[in-house]
Amino acid sequence: MLFFDPILSEDSSISCASCHKPEFAFADNVPFSKGVHGQLGNRNTPSAMNVSSRDALFWDGRAATLEEQALGPITNPIEMNLPVAVAVKRLNRSRKYRNLFYSVYKTTPSSKTLASALAAFERTLETGNTPNDRWLNDEPNGMTTQQEHGREVFRTKGKCFECHFTPDFTGDEFRSIGLFNGKEFNDSGRYKITHNLADIGKVKVPGLRNVAVTAPYMHNGQFKTLREVIDYYDQPHLLVPDAINRDSLLLQPLGLTEQEKQDLEAFLHALTDDRFVKK
Ligand code: HEC
Ligand code: HEC
Repeated sequence: MLFFDPILSEDSSISCASCHKPEFAFADNVPFSKGVHGQLGNRNTPSAMNVSSRDALFWDGRAATLEEQALGPITNPIEMNLPVAVAVKRLNRSRKYRNLFYSVYKTTPSSKTLASALAAFERTLETGNTPNDRWLNDEPNGMTTQQEHGREVFRTKGKCFECHFTPDFTGDEFRSIGLFNGKEFNDSGRYKITHNLADIGKVKVPGLRNVAVTAPYMHNGQFKTLREVIDYYDQPHLLVPDAINRDSLLLQPLGLTEQEKQDLEAFLHALTDDRFVKK
């Protein structure tokens, strides 16, 4: 209820779900989402699904737990812009929320119980009903032959599995695929938190569950389609020839054939949960 309630924003216009839209696997379908007063964010909104096993949250990993993460957007001036104390006061003024918090926590709303409730909801957003999961479990309705081929490309020639590994297709590491050059690509990512030069341009490897419904892609919303993502990985230097700190896995072009690109894209579609498949 809190996730969908604009009560947590300054002018009661924005809820968590304004940016994390359920129909797009709790991501947004624009490069940058709008917060209060129409302010544009500076990073792409990631999916809030399949986050229960993450070691770190946000592209730069600045929050260690979902509880710690949950209060961030509320106070963020370009997102919801509401001091947590004011949010808590509002919840305490609402008979509905006072009763609900009491029934769950046996106490009135506080910053701690607010964060706890939001995090508890997010932990329910796990999606495991995909062709890839069924294929792994030898169940019926698994992957097509093309998707199986795509999985091979993902594991071998494409090197994707080196960074995006199961079960959620992220090892929660910080890596750089080369979308930083200190000029037009200027989000230094993890470096902003650690101030360690080795981290410049690195971001948390995003999980890939439901990736077919969470376009546009990357921390900067750079790519509109999965095909654009695959073309980038095949030849990253074409878009960013002067990338700083691009991962050593991606220094040489992959040399994917047209067929391999199509198979890889088909495999990425095998990671979509049944609830998002249009009947
Ligand atoms: C104005 C848009 C906006 C609103 C409102 C918003 N978010 Fe986000 N959310 C984002 C963006 C953008 C990021 C990535 C920011 C970054 O990495 O610096 C993010 C990141 C996250 C993440 C991290 C996901 C990951 O894989 O690291 C979670 C979880 C999340 N938000 C939950 C919430 C919750 C809970 C709320 C409501 C209290 C909320 N968001 C409100 C835009 C929004
Ligand atoms: C060196 C580690 C690494 C390798 C190899 C790698 N990725 Fe990634 N992937 C990342 C990182 C890091 C990001 C986020 C980059 C950013 O936003 O700057 C990402 C982002 C993505 C995204 C966008 C997800 C989103 O929600 O925005 C897709 C899709 C993707 N990768 C697919 C692939 C495929 C397919 C391959 C193989 C051809 C691959 N990746 C190889 C690390 C890697």
